[in-house]
Amino acid sequence: MADHTEEDITSVLHENRLFKPKSEFSKQSHVKSRAAYDRLYKKAEKDPEGFWGELAKSELHWFKPWTKVLDWKPPFAKWFVGGTTNVSFNCLDRHLDGPRKNKAALIWEGESGDSRTLTYQDLHREVSKFANVLKNKGVKKGDRVAIYMPMIPELAIAMLSCARIGATHSIIFGGFSAAALRDRINDAEAKLVVTADGGYRKGGVITLKEKVDEALEAAPSVETMIVVNRTGTEVSMKKGRDFWWHDEMQGASAVCKAAALSSEHPLFILYTSGTTGKPKGVVHTTGGYLLGATITSKWVFDLKEEDTYWCTADIGWVTGHSYIIYGILSNGATSVMYEGVPTYPAPDRFWAIVEKYRVNIFYTAPTAIRALSKLGKEWPKKHDLSSLRLLGTVGEPINPEAWMWYHAVIGGRRCPIVDTWWQTETGAIMITPLPGAIPAKPGSATLPFPGISAEVVNKDGKKVPPNVGGYLVITRPWPSMLRTVWRNPKRYKETYWSDIPGVYFSGDGARRDKDGYFWIMGRVDDVMNISGHRLGTMEIESALVSHPTVAESAVVGAPDEIKGTSVCAFVTLELGQSPSEDLKNKLKSHVVKEIGAIARPDQIRFTDNLPKTRSGKIMRRLLRDIAAGRESVGDTSTLEDYTVLAKLRHDDEA
Ligand code: WT7
Repeated sequence: MADHTEEDITSVLHENRLFKPKSEFSKQSHVKSRAAYDRLYKKAEKDPEGFWGELAKSELHWFKPWTKVLDWKPPFAKWFVGGTTNVSFNCLDRHLDGPRKNKAALIWEGESGDSRTLTYQDLHREVSKFANVLKNKGVKKGDRVAIYMPMIPELAIAMLSCARIGATHSIIFGGFSAAALRDRINDAEAKLVVTADGGYRKGGVITLKEKVDEALEAAPSVETMIVVNRTGTEVSMKKGRDFWWHDEMQGASAVCKAAALSSEHPLFILYTSGTTGKPKGVVHTTGGYLLGATITSKWVFDLKEEDTYWCTADIGWVTGHSYIIYGILSNGATSVMYEGVPTYPAPDRFWAIVEKYRVNIFYTAPTAIRALSKLGKEWPKKHDLSSLRLLGTVGEPINPEAWMWYHAVIGGRRCPIVDTWWQTETGAIMITPLPGAIPAKPGSATLPFPGISAEVVNKDGKKVPPNVGGYLVITRPWPSMLRTVWRNPKRYKETYWSDIPGVYFSGDGARRDKDGYFWIMGRVDDVMNISGHRLGTMEIESALVSHPTVAESAVVGAPDEIKGTSVCAFVTLELGQSPSEDLKNKLKSHVVKEIGAIARPDQIRFTDNLPKTRSGKIMRRLLRDIAAGRESVGDTSTLEDYTVLAKLRHDDEA
């Protein structure tokens, strides 16, 4: 844990409004009342394995049943041991015997307004074909496939194809740089990369294939690249290595049996930032992950056969994995997928899409809600949003003002809002209201999902009293938990299971109120949450010091009205280098090159020294205060050099 003390996690939020589920909503929902939630919760608490075992049977298709629900050798879990299943089969094949055969699985909207609908049968055919393409290129069960793509249907097809044959996918968000892509490809030793020439964003084209070419200059494991022609951008194709998607698909057979995979077969790796310079490959497996994604999709979004559901995330993040593709398709629902940004060609694009497809369930991030609310309610008012019946939010704490705007302007005061807390590591939603059962309080993720044992504790693992801040932990294993860090079980153990004895530590601070509701207070480690995306301060620091002019750097988050947090970098220069606006811009671009545009520092502040303790630890708390423009109230007696602090403050005023 970082230099936080428990006093740091004091809560300042006082929100008393309560929004009870409307009885018309409750009556038709999967979990209809607080009493029904309590029954489920208690049942799961008394007999977790019985609870999850029953659901695994009722919600998923298994080729072979398991012999043991849970094998728990802390902190390593195996779920549904001995069982075999297939995620692609559960998301596709099992819907083909009945009326879902010709139901829309994916409704895709391109940024420029083009649209494609794939029925379950269509998607099954495309996935089977691409699975055969992968096989033809020598991809075998257990091989890793890297996917670096825009938000187009081929991305969904590629991931489901991997799942079909037991190849483990590693999706890298298209906003990451060539260098970040190369590191992730190398860590996973991917054999094949799926990409596109480019994608559309804000009306322009972003190139992708070009970045893969650059990454592959130093990624020896990759033998093959498959390229989708999305934008018609000119690319160079390397003979014997690079192949066009459309050429390969042309001759591919549409028959490919879904492999019977062990429940613990690794489905995907997803890299996420931590407190070191190197992102971690979070590993999710098959049966437990799919159960988590499936049952939370059903109960949290109250998913019904006739619903059109839209999650605005990018599939490059875990939200897209679980709640655009796996959890939604496993339920046989209709998932809308959008390629572009919320404000193109105008600030009403999201609301235009809701109206166009009569979206019923809408899931987005607080940062988007804040940004769109700032643009004024005339934009949503231009559209008929009456199809909406449920709203969701994820990624960061939602401030009550944004919650109220979402509720009133988008939800017409009629839609319940589910504020869902979870993480890349948890695979599925962990703390959330069940919309027909749990009254909402704006800003609170409310209560744990049945079967999830969440607590707020102090450093010794002791439960703290109501309204006292502490660390958010999960005290029992759950089916969709990460299994390990890719090829680094030691890091898995140290990162998640060592700070607080015997439990999973999320890295978040939280408090519970007198009703037991959880209020998430954000990260307590050196990880920032920028627009709902996780970024390690160390990662950005390493990027900065890799620039020849930089001697040392410390990166902290500063409060930001829209992004939640902005990136503020304190930089000391090498001897002989002098600060300038030009250098600031160069350093910003350097970070973009090393990591990607999401990590671009909002501010660079040059300083002669960084404030350090006698033992040489950077005093981040002070830097956070300075970045936020707050007066430092902390104990500074261990400061190596008081003048450093005074100087930084002074510069700030200048
Ligand atoms: C971190 C996980 C899995 C969702 C996408 C982000 C923060 C997430 C909430 C919420 C307050 C939230 C936490 C968490 N977070 N949802 N509803 N309320 N904070 O996934 O990149 O793995 O980040 O996002 O700080 O630890 P991620």
